[in-house]
Amino acid sequence: MTLILGIESSCDETAAAVVEDGRHIRSSVISSQVDLHAQYGGIFPEIASRAHVERIYPVVEEALSKAGVTLGDLDALAVTRGPGLAGSLVVGVNMAKGLALARGLPVVAVNHLEGHVYSLWLAGPEYRFVPGEPPAQPTDPWVPIEFPVVVLIVSGGHSELLLMTGHGEYTPLGSTLDDAAGEAFDKVGRLLALPYPGGPSIQRAAENGDPAAFDLPRVWLRGNQGERNYDFSFSGIKTAVLRTLESLDPSYEPDTPISPEIPVADLAASFQAAVVEVLVGKTVRAAEEYDATEIFIAGGVSANKALRETMIAQAGRPVRVPPLSLCTDNAAMIAAAGAFRFRAGEQATLDFDVRPTWPLTEIG
Ligand code: KG4
Ligand code: ZN
Repeated sequence: MTLILGIESSCDETAAAVVEDGRHIRSSVISSQVDLHAQYGGIFPEIASRAHVERIYPVVEEALSKAGVTLGDLDALAVTRGPGLAGSLVVGVNMAKGLALARGLPVVAVNHLEGHVYSLWLAGPEYRFVPGEPPAQPTDPWVPIEFPVVVLIVSGGHSELLLMTGHGEYTPLGSTLDDAAGEAFDKVGRLLALPYPGGPSIQRAAENGDPAAFDLPRVWLRGNQGERNYDFSFSGIKTAVLRTLESLDPSYEPDTPISPEIPVADLAASFQAAVVEVLVGKTVRAAEEYDATEIFIAGGVSANKALRETMIAQAGRPVRVPPLSLCTDNAAMIAAAGAFRFRAGEQATLDFDVRPTWPLTEIG
C-alpha cells in the first residue's frame, strides 16, 4: 500500500488529502476562501496567499487525523508546483518542503492540471457513463482506464482539450484564445448581478430559463485555410450578453442592481447552452478523430449539470466525470497524480521553485 499526503494551494482553496494507492481517498480537507474574495468579484492574490499561510498547517493536521495516520505512515508527499498564483503556490510548496525535511519524506511536484486529470482515477464506477446502458452502481467493478482518452479540462483558469496517450503523456489539441470557460461563467454571472462565483449561480438561474430565448454566438473558430480546429474563444459571447443587456435596458450598467424587467434566467440558460454546445461539440469531434476509448471532463466547470448531461448524451462512447467534490480544487487529485509519478520513480530535489505558468506539455 502507498500512502500519499497531497497539498494544494495554487489558487483560493487551501487543501490537504491522504490518498491510498492513487485511487482511494482516506481524507480530503478543503478550506475555501470564496467568502474572502466574493466582495472583489474575483481572487485578490495577496489576500489569497496570506489566508493560505494561516490555514495550511491546520488543514494538513486535519487531513492526517481524519485519515487516522501520522506523518510516519506516509510514503511520500505530493504538492502543486504550478500553474497558479506564485504567492499562493509557495505556501503549499514550503509546507511540503518543511515536512520533507523534518521527516525525510520524498516530495513529488505535481502540475495542477494533471491533478484535475487524475481526479478521474478517484471517481468510482458510478461516475463512468456508457451510452445505452443503465447507470453503474458504486458496488459495480471499477473499469480500468485504457488510453487514448480525450480530456476536457475546464476551470476558472483553463480550458484545455488534450489527448492522453499514457500516464503523464499529453498531446494538446486546443485551448482557449481568451477567457477560460469558468472565467466566462464568472464574468457573465457578474454582468447578470448573480453571486460570485458565477458558474454555480448561472446553473441555478438557468434551471428556470429557456436556453433558446436568446441566440448567443457559438464560436467554432477556423484556421487561415478555413480548417476546423480545437481552440476555444469565450470573450465574444460575454460581450454578446452585455450587448443584449444594454438593448433590453438602455440604462443598464454593470455592477449596479439589475432591473426586474431583465429575463435573467433566460439569459443565463441561453449563455450556458451556447458554451456547453461548443465545449461538447469540439470534445466529441476530437474523440472521433483520435478514436478515443473514453472522454474525461475535469475542472470546476465539469460540475455543470448541462455540460455533463449533454456530453454523456452526445459522446458516443463512455464518459467519466469527477464526483462534484473533486471538480473544484482539492488535494486528493494532487495526491492521485503524485502517486503515479512516485510509482514511476519520480522525486523532486528540495531546491525546486514554483511554476506559475506550466503547460502540461512541459512536464517531464
Ligand atoms: O477548478 P476550479 O476550482 O479552479 C481553477 O483551477 O480555476 O474552477 C473554478 C471555476 C469557477 O470559474 C466556477 O465558476 C466554475 O469553476 N464552476 C462552474 C460550476 N461550478 C464551478 N461553472 C459552471 N457550472 C458549475 N456548476
Ligand atoms: Zn483547478
